[in-house]
Amino acid sequence: MDRIIIRGGRRLSGTVPISGAKNAALTLLPCALLTDGRLTLSNLPRLADVDSFGHLLNGLGVSTTIAGAKAAGGIDRAMTLQAEAIVSTLAPYDIVRKMRASILVLGPLLARAGEATVSLPGGCAIGNRPIDLHLKALEALGAEIELAAGYVKAVAPRGGLRGGRVTFPIVSVGATENVLMAAVLAAGETLIENAAREPEISDLCRCLVAMGAEIEGIGTESLLVQGKAALHGADYRVMPDRIEAGSYACAAAITGGDLLLEGARAEDMGAIIAGLVEAGLTVTDEAGGLRVAADGPIRALSLSTAPFPAFPTDMQAQFMAMLALADGASVLTETIFENRYMHVPELTRMGADIEVRGRTAIVRGVKGLVGAPVMATDLRASMSLVLAGLAATGETEVLRIYHLDRGYERLEEKLSAVGADIERDSDG
Ligand code: UD1
Repeated sequence: MDRIIIRGGRRLSGTVPISGAKNAALTLLPCALLTDGRLTLSNLPRLADVDSFGHLLNGLGVSTTIAGAKAAGGIDRAMTLQAEAIVSTLAPYDIVRKMRASILVLGPLLARAGEATVSLPGGCAIGNRPIDLHLKALEALGAEIELAAGYVKAVAPRGGLRGGRVTFPIVSVGATENVLMAAVLAAGETLIENAAREPEISDLCRCLVAMGAEIEGIGTESLLVQGKAALHGADYRVMPDRIEAGSYACAAAITGGDLLLEGARAEDMGAIIAGLVEAGLTVTDEAGGLRVAADGPIRALSLSTAPFPAFPTDMQAQFMAMLALADGASVLTETIFENRYMHVPELTRMGADIEVRGRTAIVRGVKGLVGAPVMATDLRASMSLVLAGLAATGETEVLRIYHLDRGYERLEEKLSAVGADIERDSDG
């Protein structure tokens, strides 16, 4: 099993190119199901989840071709997808189990083919993660839904989905994406209230508009969609990954470094930047991206995760690693997912002082961390262990790094280029 070995204590400085956003890519890829035209997505990150999604789509009848063009900081990877005909409407357990975002084929399949059968994702490491909101929203567009033998079977009424009104009781990124992709091909108008406002949702809306959809209220909690009989192909560039950028910002902080996060967009990262500044970092919005520089000790702070524009749950673990070395005690509250503190015991083994009380974690800053073998448990938790390893004395060995490969493109390469002592051992 692959592992990552880090010898900590090096100050990082230089430029880190930020890749296309994983969570945007995973909702833009299923848009290919909505048209028989060609959808070309550029700035697509090279990640295990993107490859898995490509395979899932292949099984449904989408052809995929990949092209790479040289670009500053690496290769700009583009995928052209075309679903001339939908040949299957089944997303099997084998794929959905590995990648929860597979549920995002439900809305588009239902809208284009009139039916979809998708395996229930089941539990996952960071909590229960139900899909009831996805299903209720699609029912509001006329879908009939049945759950049997671990699968969701959804069927559109004769004549196809029709517009409706969806009011979400809680904000859900995935459910907003699913119903949006269904509504763009539904007959008539759909109003989505209490929609998620994450930048990845706006990216999805912009791609759909480029494909001929009509959506008002982009970036707000109220989205109004006028359904179309058909959409067409488009070329669309995936937005930069704000979570990857935030993670490297924490790497600058924890090593007392100075990094230019090339391509990162400040407007997507308000709460993350506010947190970094409160922790004592200097963040500057420069022409090429965001510069994050540490000049002094890390300061303790309190923060609570919540839907955008508040502080993202996907940054909680990385901030916790950084705050483990702060001057004073920090209080972190996780309000989105239960069980999202699995990195705590591992950070503790490296010398961090963290106490979890329900949804709150109290992080008392320590003077230093010590390298140790640690086990990655989920994607962002894994990154928090890498960050801790960058600051720790001695060697840190991160096991189960397939989690990292789901969400961080060329992690070791990007970190080595700015001075980290990090390597992947492929037969460890
Ligand atoms: C997406 C992101 C993930 C991020 C999360 C929250 C992708 C591929 N993943 O996940 O990285 O951490 O947003 O920003 O984009 N919920 C229900 N019923 C549902 C759906 C969700 O109760 O049908 C609950 C969840 O359990 C959770 C909350 O709603 O407590 C928010 O989840 P949601 O926004 O749906 O997360 P995902 O779309 O799964």
